[in-house]
Amino acid sequence: MAQPLSPRELLQWYLEAGVDETIGDAPVNRYLDPPAIRATASAAGNSPPPAPARPQAPAPPSRGMEDAPSTAPTAPARPPAKPAAADQALQSAWALAAAAMTVEELRRALEGFDGCGLKKTATNLVLGDGNPQARVILIGEAPGAEEDRQGLPFVGVSGRLLDRMLGSIGLDRTQVYISNTVFWRPPGNRNPTTMEMAICMPFVERLIELVDPEILVALGGAAAKVLLAQNVGIGQLRGRWFAYSTPRLPRPVEATAVFHPAYLLRSATHKGEAWRDLLEIKRKLNSL
Ligand code: URA
Repeated sequence: MAQPLSPRELLQWYLEAGVDETIGDAPVNRYLDPPAIRATASAAGNSPPPAPARPQAPAPPSRGMEDAPSTAPTAPARPPAKPAAADQALQSAWALAAAAMTVEELRRALEGFDGCGLKKTATNLVLGDGNPQARVILIGEAPGAEEDRQGLPFVGVSGRLLDRMLGSIGLDRTQVYISNTVFWRPPGNRNPTTMEMAICMPFVERLIELVDPEILVALGGAAAKVLLAQNVGIGQLRGRWFAYSTPRLPRPVEATAVFHPAYLLRSATHKGEAWRDLLEIKRKLNSL
């Protein structure tokens, strides 16, 4: 029979599995007397799990230490339990996003929007950074821990590489706008689910319309797939140009994809291709 784990081993196991938040679906008042807390917690379905047997299965995927992008498809962590609620969230997302006439209005709309479950566990909304009048918009995958703390995208390690990549073609954050496919950090840096991305997409689309850039750059495979509507990996999307359009954009936007900076930090062999992609973006920008 499997040996029960000691509390230390149990915590270690959770950490290795990518758990860095301990929350339940319902709030627990920890100021109540201990017996009352237990009652509240178990009534809310939050009672501590029995100690697992020694884990056999691999840990669930996480986006890595800081903010690594996914290369795996973004399958939902679990199927959406309440399709009606998801439908409602989507409808409300489309309506709120469509009504926003400036990036600031879009921020206020997102602040009042509770349809995306990621908001519950995030510290801050991470809408975007940079110049909302920029000619170039860059869309990454999801905020990481540092982004969640500061409420700004790409401010951690991979953000510093992104700044250097932009600098290499003469751009900085005053000349681009940067955002993500979801606006709150997925707990434990896991990949955002398909549903979370779908629910944020009306706001992403509206953001692109409001910035009305000449060039759209998807950072990494997850953003590339969803924005370019292609079902192939980043290796087949980078370095190519697509037309991105929405009904409210005055004209299609030139759209491309590059490797995610967090991926480049782990896989230096792709830096040559990334450099070529950046030069191609610069060439395109000069030609428009
Ligand atoms: N990775 C992302 O995809 N987005 C961020 O904002 C930070 C890291």
